[in-house]
Amino acid sequence: MQSLQILKDEHEVIIRVLDLLERSVDLLQHNEPIPRGFRRWVVEFSREFADRCHHGKEEDLLFPLLESRGIPREMGPIGCMLKEHITGRECVNKMEDAIAARPRDNVAFATAALQFVALLREHIFKENNVLFEMASHCLSAEDDAQLVQQYTALQCEHNGGSQKRRFRDELDQWEAEFARTEGFGTEGHEGRKGQEQPGSGSFLFTT
Ligand SMILES: [Fe+2]
Repeated sequence: MQSLQILKDEHEVIIRVLDLLERSVDLLQHNEPIPRGFRRWVVEFSREFADRCHHGKEEDLLFPLLESRGIPREMGPIGCMLKEHITGRECVNKMEDAIAARPRDNVAFATAALQFVALLREHIFKENNVLFEMASHCLSAEDDAQLVQQYTALQCEHNGGSQKRRFRDELDQWEAEFARTEGFGTEGHEGRKGQEQPGSGSFLFTT
């Protein structure tokens, strides 16, 4: 079904960001610099793409329709997904606070980031393999067409999905940037431009 495939395609983009976020924590744990601005971009991506654009489709359009087709919210898969969306927002808020702290709180950032990565990976797996499977059996062809039509009314889909395209283009660039960063190995840090340096002192990953 196209309405579900669009969401699965967005999951793929989110998973690529989670992979980079996990790699950024690994770099921090080894006192290695990470590409400058990446952490702020992750917060923006999580709010605008993952939450407003993607979860917006689910929470405002797909889930209510599934409820009306008999899939329960309370004590059911929809309620579980909604709770995990809230937990994800809390993780993003914690990452943002850690970035804003002076000095920057790398331990708090890493803790929230790893919680976010684990949560969303599992969440996406459950949606793809459980909830969307159920949805594919209870939605009609008309429901599917209606959802696709409703998706296009969302702001992130305006102008041919230009906002989504921007995030995907930026993700391509971050992946290339990470590949360059990691290609440096452990030598030659001095004078690297365009990379965030670890916070003052050693990064001690304690939690
Ligand atoms: Fe989703």
